[in-house]
Amino acid sequence: MVAYAAERHITVVPEIEMPGHARAAIAAYPGLSCTHETEHPQPQWGSPDIVFCPGGEFLFQFMEDVVDEVVALFPSTYFHIGGDECLKTQWEHCPACQARIKAEGLVADENGTAEEKLQSYAVRRMENILAKHGRKLVGWDEILEGGLSPNATVMSWRGEKGGIAAALQGHDVIMTPSKEGMYLDHVQGDPKIEPVSIGNYTTLEKAYKYEPVPEELVAGGKDGHVLGLQCNTWSEYIYSNEHRQYMMFPRAFAVAETGWTPRDRKDWDSFRERVEAACHRLDLRGVNYHIPLPEQPGGSCDHLAVYDKAVVAFTTTRPMAGMVYTLDGSTPTVASATYTQPFVFTEDAVLKIATLTPYGKLSTVRTIYVSKQEPLPALPAAAVESGIKAWRADGRFLTAAHLEGADWREVSIRRLRDVNTLEPFNRNVPDSTVFYAAKAEAFFDVAKTGVYRFSSDCDQVWIDGQLLIDNEDEVKRFSRRDAEVVLERGCHRIQVIYLYNILGGWNSIRSKTDVLIKSPEDEKFKSVKIL
Ligand code: ACM
Ligand code: ZN
Repeated sequence: MVAYAAERHITVVPEIEMPGHARAAIAAYPGLSCTHETEHPQPQWGSPDIVFCPGGEFLFQFMEDVVDEVVALFPSTYFHIGGDECLKTQWEHCPACQARIKAEGLVADENGTAEEKLQSYAVRRMENILAKHGRKLVGWDEILEGGLSPNATVMSWRGEKGGIAAALQGHDVIMTPSKEGMYLDHVQGDPKIEPVSIGNYTTLEKAYKYEPVPEELVAGGKDGHVLGLQCNTWSEYIYSNEHRQYMMFPRAFAVAETGWTPRDRKDWDSFRERVEAACHRLDLRGVNYHIPLPEQPGGSCDHLAVYDKAVVAFTTTRPMAGMVYTLDGSTPTVASATYTQPFVFTEDAVLKIATLTPYGKLSTVRTIYVSKQEPLPALPAAAVESGIKAWRADGRFLTAAHLEGADWREVSIRRLRDVNTLEPFNRNVPDSTVFYAAKAEAFFDVAKTGVYRFSSDCDQVWIDGQLLIDNEDEVKRFSRRDAEVVLERGCHRIQVIYLYNILGGWNSIRSKTDVLIKSPEDEKFKSVKIL
């Protein structure tokens, strides 16, 4: 890989990770942690507080060996040591860490806590290890906390402020702020129809318009310390190579152009046209990329209901050659009908719609099911109870189908969304974790007869005995299976099923288990109000 890149004048900079985000290393070498306990690798996304222990010498001997091996593979001068998102709670209680803090005279002051200074100490040790090999240290902006190592280069990811602070101190920086468009793992369209992601929102335009040299540094004559910019494509929610390409392109082109182009020569309108040709070259190379999907303004939804009529409009995050659709169940092609105005549905329909690029390629096809319905009848007063009834069954259930024969016992919760609160969240997911399923049932009312859209990251939502939302096989984030139903004015029954499990690295205890409702006139969803 290094040779392949070098042939193309690219230097691969290695990144190892310390002192946090290293649970796999700790699983292999328990002596690297503060407790020396046997751990399994991190089974879910997020930051555990099981981290390296800089109190003892073992970590630094280990790092000498790691660096020896890594520098032998990568000729780059720069060497990234990580340094981000290290939770320091264990250090506060670790005798070795506290002894090191004392021996090194690391005292809390306005520049950081004693533990932050301990991290700085560990990073300085890394700088010395790298210096023996003639390598330069790069670290995430957390390495500012507790004081920067003398020659460190800072990679600014939590906004630009770490990069600005480091440059003002005379350090070189690389800008890669997450919320400003440099995180290509962020979703690039409506999260309700894009594949699951870490969220946020980074369109091609936002990535293109990022300017890595802050005015503040230009004014202070420190802009020369900005070495350049970087984009990151973290793969927590990326389960295939094809999907990785979908996330990276064409946004990586935008980042490249910014890196190579003087600020005053950047031109979004020109880029927007040229990028289509660049994408066409990806087609010729068999590389996947993102094409904006047809989106419904105000929130996309694939399961629509019709009471009298439904008006359904579409747009895209940037103008494309158009949108094409079919209503006969066939897959749209370049020759299919072109979308010109909102659809008005009065009957059942299956709408397949895709965006068309100027080079004649189609986006992922969306299939939207439209169902003409009689209102589900309101329940008689005698059938309605107030409050919530809820049950739990312990076990690691992966789908609702696994619940057959489950051992249910009644529990008490106050709100539907509390189904995911029956066990505490533990960022380390110890072996003692008790997984469970919960089901809950309650009643709610609607003020008028009409269409209602429901949204939830529970595993299932049932209305009046009908399964409306089924999130089976989904990583349960961003309610990507919203659905509509027609309800008669009055009271209705709602039931939810929630499974506490970890699928695709996502811990469902962190899912939004509320059930939300809105009618077509409502701008926003609200929680279903239980009677
Ligand atoms: C990072 O995204 N934790 C650098
Ligand atoms: Zn320790």
